[in-house]
Amino acid sequence: MPLPPKQGRVLSGMRPTGKLHVGNYVGALRNWVGLQDQYDCFFFIADWHALTTDYADTRSVKQNSLEVMIDYLAAGLDPERSTLFIQSHVLQHAELHLLFSMITPLGWLERVPSYKEQRENLRDKDLGTYGFLGYPLLQSADILLYKPNFVPVGEDQVPHVELTREVARRFNFIYPKQGYKSPASITRFEDAQGSDRLVIPPGGHMVRRPVTPKELMEYDPSKVVFPEPQPLLTPSPKLPGTDGRKMSKSYGNTILLSEPEASLRKKLKTMVTDPARIRRTDPGNPDVCPVGDLHKIFSTAETMAKVNEGCRTAGIGCIECKQWASDSLWRVLGPLQERRQKYEANPKLAWDILEQGSTKARAVAEATMVEAREAANLSHEYEAPEQSVAEGK
Ligand code: TRP
Ligand code: SF4
Repeated sequence: MPLPPKQGRVLSGMRPTGKLHVGNYVGALRNWVGLQDQYDCFFFIADWHALTTDYADTRSVKQNSLEVMIDYLAAGLDPERSTLFIQSHVLQHAELHLLFSMITPLGWLERVPSYKEQRENLRDKDLGTYGFLGYPLLQSADILLYKPNFVPVGEDQVPHVELTREVARRFNFIYPKQGYKSPASITRFEDAQGSDRLVIPPGGHMVRRPVTPKELMEYDPSKVVFPEPQPLLTPSPKLPGTDGRKMSKSYGNTILLSEPEASLRKKLKTMVTDPARIRRTDPGNPDVCPVGDLHKIFSTAETMAKVNEGCRTAGIGCIECKQWASDSLWRVLGPLQERRQKYEANPKLAWDILEQGSTKARAVAEATMVEAREAANLSHEYEAPEQSVAEGK
């Protein structure tokens, strides 16, 4: 059966943090897997981004990338339908990052909310480096190289996509595509959300004013090097770890996608519950219980109804309830782990797929770089000296 035409391109990535956990799945991967039929998808491993905070010890970066790739494949990212690649094998990311570094005001980077926050959270590391400040700019390059329509991300990453849009506008303004000069004042239309129209007057800094209808008529977004992508916000349900706090590697409270069934059941057994339910005879409330949160994400409506009824009337015990939660979670993880076996037995298979994907990604990235270089007068093509002088570029 022929596949329906794809509705545009999607790109997203993750830093290689090692084996992925259920939180990564619910907050991103599960959603990516579902996008594969509708969109032309590019998913990658942002290994250079790992260096922005862990430059001092890079010993595990490569192994972590491989682990993430195996998790990608296990989760159902499909190299037949998506391009799966690794950032550092597509050198164009570094080149575009460099071009962007030339035109991006420092203030734009200093203002990104994650910058100050992370620097404070990670006080034990010296993050007074350019690489750390430039983190979101490298991300802008990651994104714009592939000209995606959408970037599926969690809420915390939306400011990075916003910055990406600003960088795209600025590049398009400073380096208009060959043969096209956008009206001097315009770099962007009203976007899909109907937000303000932005203009950069000659001279650089951004101001807001409505664009005149005449200017709108003259502006053609298909004639710029970088169309602006939209964030595609991934709804992330509350997913607690075993201690009841948000599941996160840094809290050590995770359940891995590769967690063996016995270990999963053991972890859930000791999971925190509604603190008000002390004795078996006390009624509880699944809405304030981390196990209840797990049920909401992974259990069927039927099981959920049994939990609600049983918990609130003290009809069931927490032990039983946790067994059900384990069953529900295993129904999701079991098939993932089955798919995983092949790659676990032969990790090189996963690495080879990553290499093939990176080759595909390089072709797309290079096509964009040809346009970007040309716009910035850095094309690799020979140009006779008289000509370029005569044209007075
Ligand atoms: N910063 C992202 C994160 O921490 C990872 C990332 C790097 C990314 N480059 C990207 C995500 C490009 C989307 C698009 O999750
Ligand atoms: Fe939580 Fe289930 Fe116990 Fe209720 S019965 S407190 S939902 S573990």
